[in-house]
Amino acid sequence: MTSVDANVSVVDELVGQLAELRREGEAAVGGASSAQELESLRVEYLGRKGRLTSILRRLGELGPGERPAVGAEANRVKDALSALLDERAAGFAAGADAGPRVDLTLPGRHRWKGGVHPVTQVVDEICEIFRDLGFTRVGGPEVETTEYNFTKLNTPLDHPAADMHDTFYLADGIVLRTHTSPVQARVMEAFKPPIRVVVPGTVYRRDPFDASHAPGFEQLEGLAVDEGITFADFKATITAFVHRFFGGAVPVRFRPSFFPFTEPSAEVDVRCQICGGSGCPACKHTGWMEIMGSGMVHPNVFTACGYDPERYTGYAFGMGPGRIAMQRYGVTDIRMWYEDDMRFLGQFT
Ligand code: PHE
Repeated sequence: MTSVDANVSVVDELVGQLAELRREGEAAVGGASSAQELESLRVEYLGRKGRLTSILRRLGELGPGERPAVGAEANRVKDALSALLDERAAGFAAGADAGPRVDLTLPGRHRWKGGVHPVTQVVDEICEIFRDLGFTRVGGPEVETTEYNFTKLNTPLDHPAADMHDTFYLADGIVLRTHTSPVQARVMEAFKPPIRVVVPGTVYRRDPFDASHAPGFEQLEGLAVDEGITFADFKATITAFVHRFFGGAVPVRFRPSFFPFTEPSAEVDVRCQICGGSGCPACKHTGWMEIMGSGMVHPNVFTACGYDPERYTGYAFGMGPGRIAMQRYGVTDIRMWYEDDMRFLGQFT
């Protein structure tokens, strides 16, 4: 009985040691902070002269019936620790425990956030400059009557601009506006002078879709009406605008032209922004870029809108922000603005 009791206590002692070995080993392996530390723990716990070996050596003190159970428990502890060691070692190899692995040589992944279309950006910028010059931004309908689009603007319906070949007719007397000028008449009918407005918007013409034409495009109308406004006011205002928009004292010239709703009329040109004036395909080798049509409001337009042409004078202008944006960015095909190719448009945000 004594010897059985003695063995029972050795069995208990060894099983207790194994449990403690497992607990300590798991804590140590779990807390290891490098692959090297794991290796020395493996030697310390499972090595030939390690702690598990020294427990196993004492199996000889047990009777043959008692050894298998303690041996099996020793194997379970060995397998558990060895699996944990392998797992953590694999973690170090993959870098999982070495903090986030960052490859600083990879190009950044930025999320597409959307943005304002480059032509709209130019529209906004032009309106900002005119706001500083005292102009209010207004809008008007894209579906217009022929009366506002043509007749009130001193343009008879047998004028070539009103031709079916040039204009989208939606119904008899109803068109997609061919310019923003009808908003001149709408503003004059709604408000009394003094008037200073800018009117950005889309206009439509039965033009081919090619490098320099689009059937729908942006225009920006300007109108100033008051007593005593002269062409000198117009020149000063437009010169101030050009200098602010293009930056610096960019040369501007006013060239005689014709529009039914202005008299006299002028085209405004600025020094070609692409070649600097030496001549290039973009300016057709003239060194100048046309940026707007303009002139003093025709007395017949004032009469058609209920203003006294003896009392009031004013100037009007119409520019194409799409064309102006092309000049600014050196874009040579107007279709680029309208194809919605994000690889292109994304460069402007
Ligand atoms: N509406 C004219 C056009 O579309 C431009 C313009 C506006 C001319 C105002 C004179 C005055 O070509």
